[in-house]
Amino acid sequence: MPIIELQNVSKEYGKIKVLQDISLIFDKGEFVSVVGHSGAGKSTIIKLLTCEEKPSTGRIIVAGRDITQLKPSELPYYRRKIGVIYQDFKLLPQKDVYENVAYALEVCDYPSHDIKKRVVKVLELVGLSHRINNYPNELSGGERQRVAIARALIHNPKILIADEPTGNLDPVNTWEIMELLYRINRSGTLVILTTHNKTVVDRLKKRVVLMKGGRVVSDEKSGTYVI
Ligand SMILES: Nc1ncnc2c1ncn2[C@@H]1O[C@H](COP(=O)(O)OP(=O)(O)OP(=O)(O)O)[C@@H](O)[C@H]1O
Ligand SMILES: [Mg+2]
Repeated sequence: MPIIELQNVSKEYGKIKVLQDISLIFDKGEFVSVVGHSGAGKSTIIKLLTCEEKPSTGRIIVAGRDITQLKPSELPYYRRKIGVIYQDFKLLPQKDVYENVAYALEVCDYPSHDIKKRVVKVLELVGLSHRINNYPNELSGGERQRVAIARALIHNPKILIADEPTGNLDPVNTWEIMELLYRINRSGTLVILTTHNKTVVDRLKKRVVLMKGGRVVSDEKSGTYVI
C-alpha cells in the first residue's frame, strides 16, 4: 500500500487553477524531489499534504485515510505523523534550541524526563548537541535548519516534507542539510522535497516530479533537473 496517494487532485483559488488533476503515489522510504518554475504549484501540494489547505476536488490518502475528510480535532494528531520543514525555519525566537524542539512534545503532555531524553537524542542525530542552549539568532542558517529538522523528527514520523529547505542557505550548508535529509531517508523515512537547486537534484539521482502550470509533466525514477 502506498503511504501517500493523491487521486485526481485539483485546487482553485476563485477562478485561478493552481493544481489541475494531480495523481501521484509516494511509497514508503522514497526520496522524491518536486521541481518546477516559481508558481508551478509545489508549495500548494505541500499545503494539501499538511492539511493547511483542502483540495477543491480529489482525494488524498495518507496511510489509508483520506486526509481531506479529517475533522479539525483530528488535525494535531495527523500532523504529528508528518515532519515538515520550510525555507524560513519557523523557529520560535524567544526559545532556545532545546525549548524549540521540546515544545513539540510539551504540547502533547509528555512526561518531562521523557521529553529531555528524546530532545537530547534528536539533537545528537542532527549534530547540534553543542548548541542546545543557544537561541535561534545565535545560530547559522544551517544550524537553524537542523533545529527545525530535529523538531520535525521528534515524533518519529514516517514522512518528512521539506519545502525549499535550503533556499536560504549557502552551498556548504545546503549540502550539510541534504546529507542529513539523505541519512534520514536511508533510515526508512519518505522524504518529499521541493527545490529550485539543480545541483542538489542532479546529485541525489532520486525520483524527480516536474510540475508546470499546476500539472505534473514528468515523473522520473532517477531524474535530473530539466525544466
Ligand atoms: N491563497 C492563494 N490565493 C490565490 N492564489 C494563490 C494562493 N496561494 C497560491 N496561489 C497561487 O498558486 C500558484 C502556485 O503557488 P505555489 O506557492 O504552489 O508555487 P510554487 O511552485 O511553490 O512556487 P515557488 O517556487 O515560487 O515557491 C501561484 O500562481 C500562486 O500565486
Ligand atoms: Mg513554493
